[in-house]
Amino acid sequence: MITAQQPDSLKSDIISEIYDYALPIVDNKIISCFASSSPTIFEITNYLFKIGGKRFRPLLILLSARLFGMQTPSDKIIIACASIELIHMATLLHDDIIDKSATRRGHESAYKKFGLPASLLAGDFLLVRAFGLSCYTLDEKLIKYTEKACLSLTEGEELEGTITGDKWKSYEEYLDIIQKKTASLFSLACATGAYFAGATEEQTKILEQFGQLLGTAFQIIDDILDILADEKDFGKPLGTDLKQRTPSIVNILWLESGDLRAKEFFNCEQPQTMQMIEETILYLRNSNIVIRAKEIANQFAELAKTELDKLDEGIDFEVKQEFLRLLDKTLNRCA
Ligand code: FPP
Ligand code: MG
Repeated sequence: MITAQQPDSLKSDIISEIYDYALPIVDNKIISCFASSSPTIFEITNYLFKIGGKRFRPLLILLSARLFGMQTPSDKIIIACASIELIHMATLLHDDIIDKSATRRGHESAYKKFGLPASLLAGDFLLVRAFGLSCYTLDEKLIKYTEKACLSLTEGEELEGTITGDKWKSYEEYLDIIQKKTASLFSLACATGAYFAGATEEQTKILEQFGQLLGTAFQIIDDILDILADEKDFGKPLGTDLKQRTPSIVNILWLESGDLRAKEFFNCEQPQTMQMIEETILYLRNSNIVIRAKEIANQFAELAKTELDKLDEGIDFEVKQEFLRLLDKTLNRCA
């Protein structure tokens, strides 16, 4: 039996209970969606699932539902959890194709192992399964929220592709990209949990906004980890964003800092060697780019806390504390 990997950093009574009781049910639902008359699609979807995953987005749904008093997840919540994880898996399959990435979750990517057409189709398959699940709930709001998030993340990914290399514009554009490509699913998760647990429209909106801000902080930290992480824990090679000239927070701030070395680095026509990337990583680690990027992530986390503080009535304060800890853990990933 495959189980979601609970990161050590996320150990607490409430979260452990979710990993022990609710997420295994979600996992079973997800696995049931891999059934296919195509052995290749079945193999790829199982492969991606088996190589890891924290089920962070389902966790956010379940926590948000608990925040509004739903201790035992309803069938609709379980379905929404499975659906969001399937969407996330589909984006990973497609993202690795777009990035030509050989590694995912510390293993060979599906793109590398099974090739482009098969992994593309496996992603399509998962996306259809995800929408199938949402539709079975017959809940128009869930379907609409899900559609909105998926449109947004597709547009974010497209925008990221168009401003790679020397076509970068600004920090504002970077924020737009990450809010679309990453924060949209976090936002969907938090709003969905609140909605199904009976939160008011106003409370659901607060959770939607909270998820957006948490997701933004999460992606900024992810970008910083590209030069700061310990490679063996990171699951992919360091410096990928540098190498691919992705509009990451580090790259954007470095270019905007006016450092001539940044201009030289990004204007260089030849692909950089591994040695050049390693030297650049060391250089940036010792620059104030990382400090500035962490400050920005902190600001988003603070805004997220402010959102949560708007909730006073009818919430479980222990779960609120859990959300606050989750925010701290997000920031501490690169402390
Ligand atoms: C990972 O970012 C990628 C995303 C968060 C979004 C990917 C979205 C698509 C591929 C659009 C497809 C849409 C659907 C609905 C299937 P990253 O490249 O910064 O992270 P990584 O380092 O983990 O690859
Ligand atoms: Mg990628």
